[in-house]
Amino acid sequence: MKSLPWCRTSRIIHAVRVLANVFHSQFDQSRVTKRWAEALAEAGIETRFHSDEPLDIAAEHAACEQADRLIFVHPMHWYSGPWPLKRWIDEVLTYGWAYGEESRIAGKEWVHAVSVGAGMEEYGLEGSRLYTVEEFMRPFERTAGFCGAIYRPPFLFYGAGYRGDDDLAEFTLALLDFARSTRS
Ligand SMILES: Cc1cc2nc3c(=O)[nH]c(=O)nc-3n(C[C@H](O)[C@H](O)[C@H](O)COP(=O)(O)O)c2cc1C
Repeated sequence: MKSLPWCRTSRIIHAVRVLANVFHSQFDQSRVTKRWAEALAEAGIETRFHSDEPLDIAAEHAACEQADRLIFVHPMHWYSGPWPLKRWIDEVLTYGWAYGEESRIAGKEWVHAVSVGAGMEEYGLEGSRLYTVEEFMRPFERTAGFCGAIYRPPFLFYGAGYRGDDDLAEFTLALLDFARSTRS
């Protein structure tokens, strides 16, 4: 089709408000999760750290309500997330706020960025772990769905236990790109 000089197609770009909730049981011993959290915060993304301190539920709710995309940043611990993530889910996703009559996180994107100690070849039917990481993540996927949030495929950094700093730097940049990407 011939383009008309006075007629421009416009793509509607929605700015995405991002909240990164970061979870670790021992931040002082973290290499990957800590680096990601620092990079997200340095990029101006609201970043909240969760370890063993008690949660302020009202503050957690307010932070989530102001975001369109919720990123859960954490290592894989025992084929799941570390315990502060489970506690956050148990305590923050309350009846009447996250599910029930209404959900204040309905329609928001829910995505995990996971540091996975073992290599990709260890996961799946052919590997020693038997299931894929995506399969291990199903409880999170269902939790998001139950609350009406839009679960996105996780961002996975395999081999975190042996990969060097160059790989980590590369993946950190990819994570930042993803976190800041727009949706149209
Ligand atoms: C308690 C614990 C459980 C772990 N469980 C797993 C696991 O199930 N699968 C895996 O691939 N790595 C596992 N790892 C390795 C971590 O995933 C790895 O150390 C982590 O991703 C590195 O990130 P970090 O530097 O932020 O701690 C485990 C580590 C710990 C301390």
